[in-house]
Amino acid sequence: MSQQHSAAPASDTVAVRGDWWRDAVIYQVYPRSFADGDGDGMGDLEGVRTRLPYLRDLGVDAVWLSPFYASPQADAGYDVADYRAVDPMFGTLLDADALIRDAHALGLRIIVDLVPNHSSDQHEWFKRALAEGPGSPSRDRYHFRPGKGAAGELPPNDWESIFGGPAWTRVTEPDGTPGDWYLHLFAPEQPDFNWEHPAVGDEFRSILRFWLDMGVDGFRIDVAHGMVKAAGLPDLGSHDHLTLLANDVTPFFDQDGVHEIYRQWRRILDEYPGERIFVAEAWTPTVERTANYVRPDELHQAFNFQYLATAWDAASLREVIDRTLDAMRPVGAPATWVLSNHDVTRHATRFANEPGLGTQIRLAGDRELGLRRARAATLLMLALPGSAYVYQGEELGLPDVVDLPDEVRQDPAYFRGAGQDGFRDGCRVPIPWTRTGPSYGFGPAGTWLPQPPTWADLSVESQTGVPDSTLELYRTALAVRRSEPDLGAGDAVEWLPAPEGVLAFRRGDFICAANTGDTPVTVPSYGRLLLSSAEPPSTPGAETTLPPNTTTWWTTA
Ligand code: NOJ
Repeated sequence: MSQQHSAAPASDTVAVRGDWWRDAVIYQVYPRSFADGDGDGMGDLEGVRTRLPYLRDLGVDAVWLSPFYASPQADAGYDVADYRAVDPMFGTLLDADALIRDAHALGLRIIVDLVPNHSSDQHEWFKRALAEGPGSPSRDRYHFRPGKGAAGELPPNDWESIFGGPAWTRVTEPDGTPGDWYLHLFAPEQPDFNWEHPAVGDEFRSILRFWLDMGVDGFRIDVAHGMVKAAGLPDLGSHDHLTLLANDVTPFFDQDGVHEIYRQWRRILDEYPGERIFVAEAWTPTVERTANYVRPDELHQAFNFQYLATAWDAASLREVIDRTLDAMRPVGAPATWVLSNHDVTRHATRFANEPGLGTQIRLAGDRELGLRRARAATLLMLALPGSAYVYQGEELGLPDVVDLPDEVRQDPAYFRGAGQDGFRDGCRVPIPWTRTGPSYGFGPAGTWLPQPPTWADLSVESQTGVPDSTLELYRTALAVRRSEPDLGAGDAVEWLPAPEGVLAFRRGDFICAANTGDTPVTVPSYGRLLLSSAEPPSTPGAETTLPPNTTTWWTTA
């Protein structure tokens, strides 16, 4: 089943630093769209390896790679056919080994994606389950059920796929007749595992060890809130699934049973040398529920999607920051902060539009304003205690590509019409490295999604060394973050009095002040300016005028 690998495990040569992950800045690489080493228009592991020095120079601590495993790519690799093999489109296990080794030699950690809620329909287990027919034990590793209705023509329950349409697909049995239905919370090509079956747990414990032996520093757990389903798979009884998902624990998400799986996984991780971590992709209704995933004997971090979904507005931001810190403190886990990833509209485009449109927007909006706010939002995020995630290309200020032609779209949600309109392709366009070339230096050929003709000026080459570029802002901010001991550390902020629309807080000698409004605001002087996301504030005497949509960093030392 697995691709053969002869690579010896990569050694952990990253200098051991106490609890490195508590304040780490972790950069998400979306391998398809980062850099193309072999010229097939698709990014790959060799492309990532050759660009590691860029990430070291950017100043991040670790790299999280979205899936590069053997996969038919029905959901861009989140449909895994073989968890121990690299898809040929991304390279080989030897390439993975070389990437891990080179990253470690540069002082970077590597976090890989683990997709335990579902496999690909091309996974050996699922193919066997289909071939062996109804009632066969191999079907018990997934959720197969007879349909409802006189001839079993209706799905077993009323659950809907996150990508739209029913969460069940009926199979044609080996004898050619319509038969059982199987559950897929995502695309039909992504059948959900039945985690009640002991073989599933055994297999994933073995997969964890496989990648830990390869030398990875951690795992990002996909759909970490989804593996356990309520007994009997009860109907939801509501068809407004998106509202329900945002506000409630459902029979398929955030069931308490998932936590036992993580307690077992944590014990495995802790057997390994070095400090390796788990980060949960757990979309729960509240930060308080998210905190359950990072109790001391479970996972290390969980993405803070409540923060990601918050508008650029001082009062809302203050509320979510306080709530997050208050939720994490009792369990002793660091807060995490994230503004963009491969599933949501990039924050430069979200903030270019009216607030309240959510995280899935296909409107360009006011680009200049969006970028200005995005830069301010980033400086605010990087000043908060805990760990921060940066999605590839945000350091270039990339907007979403909102006008991709229909024929190039690949997001399965586009084809299943979940009301999401396939929005995710817009944040997955390959990133520009150089001013010229067929793909702005992404690779020697074209790109799997077309880049806008305006991206030359956003390339790494165009921005390098340009003091007010977004890339240099990220580099400087990350360098200051490393040199200021109070930044990132701790579990609290000390709020300073601030006028409406302004957030100001102190962390030791460090002060962060963000004006989220559209007009300048006068505040007391905060000391010596370290960094500003836009033009520097004017400081005539004891007062400072903060420009609109700007975050500033100060020191009183
Ligand atoms: C979350 C991933 O981030 C997303 O890209 C994917 O489609 C779903 N999980 C299903 O695996």
